[in-house]
Amino acid sequence: MKVTETMIEGMYQIKIDQKNRLATRNQVPGTSVYGERLIKANNEEYRLWDPFRSKFAAAYLSGMKLLPQLKGKNILYLGVSTGTTPSHFSDILDDGFIYGVEFSPKVMRKFYRLAEQRPNLIPILADARRPEEYSSYVFDVDLLYQDVSQPEQATIFGRNAQDYLKPGGVGIIAIKSQSINVALEPEEVFSKQMNILENNFGLKVLENSTIDPFEKKHAVMIVKKD
Ligand SMILES: C[S@@+](CC[C@H](N)C(=O)[O-])C[C@H]1O[C@@H](n2cnc3c(N)ncnc32)[C@H](O)[C@@H]1O
Repeated sequence: MKVTETMIEGMYQIKIDQKNRLATRNQVPGTSVYGERLIKANNEEYRLWDPFRSKFAAAYLSGMKLLPQLKGKNILYLGVSTGTTPSHFSDILDDGFIYGVEFSPKVMRKFYRLAEQRPNLIPILADARRPEEYSSYVFDVDLLYQDVSQPEQATIFGRNAQDYLKPGGVGIIAIKSQSINVALEPEEVFSKQMNILENNFGLKVLENSTIDPFEKKHAVMIVKKD
């Protein structure tokens, strides 16, 4: 089976049934996190990475060029849910780690169990709208990742970037237009959110793409803090 590394270190492409599929090397061999297929190749075990379940994988397959490297990074991840995307980041990170913020206790219980197997995941039960609540646990990070369905997505991201993203650090924000305003065209919502990031928080949007067909009415933006 042919395995090749992608532009993102630790993210692989495996050719299965004539199709290229994304994957990471499984750091907890024998264990699948969300029902994804495990594949043995070159004496390693890989977990297939489903772009319909992960906006990072969807952004990669949508051709985004400026997605940052993950290996060795310390990440603040807002909206970890049960850990689908974080589990793939965890496979890649090496000595980096993830502070994983989630406000639903029910969902967080699953993430706690995942973190028991994966020591580079640090669960934080908190509301990302109030970043001051986790100031005693979180130190400045290289990368801020956000995937929360809230009406004020850019403002939540901006506040967390102000408090926790290192100068020169990069952010990735997945924006769901339907959580912000169902009456506006998604493009208009994305443009307003971009204005908030740039004008209210002094962030720079480096790249911006929709991620159809993996998620409808969603955009992913790569953001830089000077
Ligand atoms: C779309 S899911 C995230 C999926 C996850 N990022 C992945 O790719 O595996 C959004 C999550 O954000 C959480 N969420 C929404 N608003 C939040 C907030 N204000 N603070 C923390 N978590 C929040 C939801 O409970 C939900 O679990």
